[in-house]
Amino acid sequence: MGEETDDVKGKEMTEQRKGGINMIYLDNAATSFPKPASVTDAVTECMTEWCANPGRSGHEMAMKSAEAVYRARIEAAGLIGAGPDEIVFTQNCTGALNIALHGVLRPGDHVVTTMMEHNSVLRPLNAMRRYGVKTTVVRCGPDGRLSAESVRRACRDNTRMIVCTMASNVTGTVMPTEEIGEIAAEKRILFLADGSQAAGVLETDVESMKADFLAVSGHKSLMGPQGTGFLYIRHGTPVFSVTEGGTGSESESIVQPQTVPEGMEAGTLNVPGITGLAEGIRFVKKTGLPEIRKKEENLIGYLSSMLEGRKNIISYGPEKSEQKVGIFAFNIRGMNSETTAEILDRQYGIAVRAGFHCAPFAHRAIGTQNSGCVRISVGMFNTEKEISDAAEAILDIAEIAEKRKNSVKISDKNMVY
Ligand code: ALA
Repeated sequence: MGEETDDVKGKEMTEQRKGGINMIYLDNAATSFPKPASVTDAVTECMTEWCANPGRSGHEMAMKSAEAVYRARIEAAGLIGAGPDEIVFTQNCTGALNIALHGVLRPGDHVVTTMMEHNSVLRPLNAMRRYGVKTTVVRCGPDGRLSAESVRRACRDNTRMIVCTMASNVTGTVMPTEEIGEIAAEKRILFLADGSQAAGVLETDVESMKADFLAVSGHKSLMGPQGTGFLYIRHGTPVFSVTEGGTGSESESIVQPQTVPEGMEAGTLNVPGITGLAEGIRFVKKTGLPEIRKKEENLIGYLSSMLEGRKNIISYGPEKSEQKVGIFAFNIRGMNSETTAEILDRQYGIAVRAGFHCAPFAHRAIGTQNSGCVRISVGMFNTEKEISDAAEAILDIAEIAEKRKNSVKISDKNMVY
């Protein structure tokens, strides 16, 4: 009986909800789409059958909601080799990063980070300059790759934290986070890893990375709904809350409890989202990271084989698909990246992201600081046919751009179409 139930559930979990808008969706690094049916079903069931406020009341629905949140903590913790009481639910990865940065750094502290970081790291660090937190941004190569040794060299006596993404959201470049974790541990510096583009695709283990903090997005490769994410905080790491309010604990006091997780989670939790996220994580575990990784690597390898080295196509990031997550960044020579994306959308029904991807230094590293770039990002549900359709569309557009180039004077530098 138990086996039969598991089997049926397994089948359901591999199903996906088809999109209402008929597009080839290649913008999974922004948010994954579609979601597994088990995720949307769980959200609907939660909202229609039992969703109340966890930890605030003792009635059956509140208890069921609290139990769902706790189960989600167990799922999230299990994925990254942590304990459930080390998982703080947040609205997104940005919220998680902000807790780790604002909750720890104080005037006089120094931070080492990299050129491939997202603005969810760079902007809080920039804001903290006004009260005396200094940051060194370590240079990355033209394919986004980073030498861990350059991170070591950038550390000073007052370096309090190293912040590094596990994979770039612009080029997909996989960063040497395990080596960086070693350096941080050796120097007794806190290590904050940004797993927004990695969790759910790459093995993400807080022990092998020696991470003190790991910020994760729930709605990307973990397949959860938007409005979800979490922060791993290593047991015993000193961190202050950045949002104060009701926690359901110590309610008689006006003093914010500084306990992890609830002291860091003031306000009503996103129970439907967290319930969906738990199902998304179950989907990832059931499918298996190696299979997800292999699928995305194959799709990107296939796309690269069709586009790399083709006339008028400039690609960015590491050449080998095993050195990156499921991203292919490119430009068509002589065409603005946003124009390329618009043509892909309007004329071919293909969804991609273009322009600047909230990572200004990453664009500097790869040389697209004036042009931005087009980003194709694949997900678990994309097919080879979708990839070859996208490649053909891009080659068509490149040909049009070539013809235009011959009739109009185009400035390569400004990428004007
Ligand atoms: N950070 C997300 C992206 O890279 C939204 O598109």
